Amino acid sequence: MRLADKAALVTGASKGIGRAIAERLAADGAQVAVHYGRDERAARETVRRIEENAGRAFAVQADLSTMDGIGALFTGLRTGLSGRPLDIVVNNAAAAPAGPIETDTPEQFDHLVAVNVKAPYFIIQRALPLLSDGGRVITISSVATRMANPTQTSFALTKGAVETMSRTLARALGGRGITVNTVAPGATRTDANEAIFTPETAALAAGLTALNRVGRADDVADVVAFLASHDARWITGQTLDASGGLHLGPRELTGPAPAPDRPGSTVTPADAARTPTGGRRADDHAARP
Ligand SMILES: NC(=O)c1ccc[n+]([C@@H]2O[C@H](COP(=O)([O-])OP(=O)(O)OC[C@H]3O[C@@H](n4cnc5c(N)ncnc54)[C@H](OP(=O)(O)O)[C@@H]3O)[C@@H](O)[C@H]2O)c1
Repeated sequence: MRLADKAALVTGASKGIGRAIAERLAADGAQVAVHYGRDERAARETVRRIEENAGRAFAVQADLSTMDGIGALFTGLRTGLSGRPLDIVVNNAAAAPAGPIETDTPEQFDHLVAVNVKAPYFIIQRALPLLSDGGRVITISSVATRMANPTQTSFALTKGAVETMSRTLARALGGRGITVNTVAPGATRTDANEAIFTPETAALAAGLTALNRVGRADDVADVVAFLASHDARWITGQTLDASGGLHLGPRELTGPAPAPDRPGSTVTPADAARTPTGGRRADDHAARP
């Protein structure tokens, strides 16, 4: 197994993408510290699923919105590791998007920055004395950093911050052989956000995605597992997009598209409705000023 004898911390591993990452790293042989915030039952379920699959894991509770919480995380982590070094840190936990700017409050903003930026930064700082040379630091970002979604401005800026942090930390920690990268998921279906993906919104997201479906948590976990592995030893300071190509551009770039309702058209009315130009394809603009 490629992570045999390794130990990993995965924050926010009680559910969603974090649980999938914890399960995948454990399946690769790592002992996994399954961090959770409030949902102890879900964290225990993550540990149970790992152990059922002959993996090794322990749960650690901590509120990542405060420095006291980060202190508690490391108390629990040291106890669980029992003196062995840490090899992989995955900063996955995050507060959900607030916004748009018209309604964002200072309290929501401070919470986003505390959980999504300050916590990853100080988790890495506190992990450094435990982290083995040649270790891995991976932080989960979002396609929100390259897509302009006005409802997510404050969330997007926190994800931009961790991408910048990772790039500069890659330089700072490279001397120890530690790689520092981010992974940017797109629309990813999880148990927690299942309700968001109605047939209509799932079709909308799939239509905006080059690989033509909504992402799954394991799509992202497999990319994290690759970065955690020896195979990724020469990748650092990078953001790997794990979105299936969300918002890469229009499906066809071969000149003006026929009208959606014209017989033989390659553009269905549903396609047209999905385009961000409100029914006109992006390439229509060149043809129709
Ligand atoms: N799902 C998507 O479509 C998507 C898209 C782009 C990026 N992402 C990113 O991917 C990562 C995982 O997303 P997800 O959708 O899997 O999230 P999720 O299902 O909502 O799970 C969030 C996790 O973070 C923990 N957490 C949140 N706030 C916390 C706090 N203050 N203190 C401690 N723990 C806290 C939660 O713990 P408890 O539940 O135990 O409290 C939970 O384990 C995040 O960084 C997110 O921004 C997700």
